[in-house]
Amino acid sequence: MSKIINWGIIGLGKIAHKFAEDLQLVEDANLLAVASRDIENAKSFAKKFSANQFYSSYKALVENPNVDVVYIATPHALHYEHTLLCLNANKAVLCEKAFAMNAAEVKEMIRTAKARNVFLMEALWTRFIPGTLKTLALIKEGSIGKIHSVEADFGFIGDTDPEKRLFNKRLGGGALFDIGIYPVFLSILILGAPKYINAHATMAATGVDAEVKITFAYESG
Ligand SMILES: NC(=O)c1ccc[n+]([C@@H]2O[C@H](COP(=O)([O-])OP(=O)(O)OC[C@H]3O[C@@H](n4cnc5c(N)ncnc54)[C@H](OP(=O)(O)O)[C@@H]3O)[C@@H](O)[C@H]2O)c1
Repeated sequence: MSKIINWGIIGLGKIAHKFAEDLQLVEDANLLAVASRDIENAKSFAKKFSANQFYSSYKALVENPNVDVVYIATPHALHYEHTLLCLNANKAVLCEKAFAMNAAEVKEMIRTAKARNVFLMEALWTRFIPGTLKTLALIKEGSIGKIHSVEADFGFIGDTDPEKRLFNKRLGGGALFDIGIYPVFLSILILGAPKYINAHATMAATGVDAEVKITFAYESG
């Protein structure tokens, strides 16, 4: 029998609920502990998903010696801080997208994970969905032929409340960080890193991009 992996979750918002629901379908996973800035939220979340322990501080959760891996479900602007909090406590990390706010933060996260020999991963689910796997397989077996271009879109009408994470600059708001990363990732997965990037954004009053269009250009043409 495989070892049971004890999960902790920090930041008990929308996606944390979905994640906890799905974790119940994973045979070797046990939701052991959850942490929220609000103890009542932590308590009701723990009750709903049968987690043994709940905390009012993220630090207290990462100090629990029985937690093997932490799922970070806080807004993007806090991913760097919370990932380092977990890694420095030698906890494996599954961090929500967008991984961090810039390349320097990501490099430091990776450096810390390597230095401590601890698992670190961005929760980019579209890398693993059947549609992506099938696309990659079709490309590999040559049945599509040579790929000349990729067109990818993702959009929805979001909650424009300036305090909520989608349009709040302080929390890392904006279209690119929230869902623009998906078409960017798909393009890089299929065509590799581009030589030139041309981007045009429509900015919202809060100073974040409400919409962004990006063209990647490759030396190969
Ligand atoms: N993979 C996906 O499909 C997917 C889908 C949706 C979202 N996400 C990602 O998951 C992350 C969270 O998104 P969400 O939609 O779940 O957001 P959300 O509902 O706003 O939840 C974020 C949680 O982070 C915690 N938090 C800690 N400091 C905070 C602060 N200063 N301001 C606001 N919240 C703070 C809060 O939990 P406590 O109060 O409990 O501490 C809050 O409930 C984002 O990075 C997003 O990109 C991924």
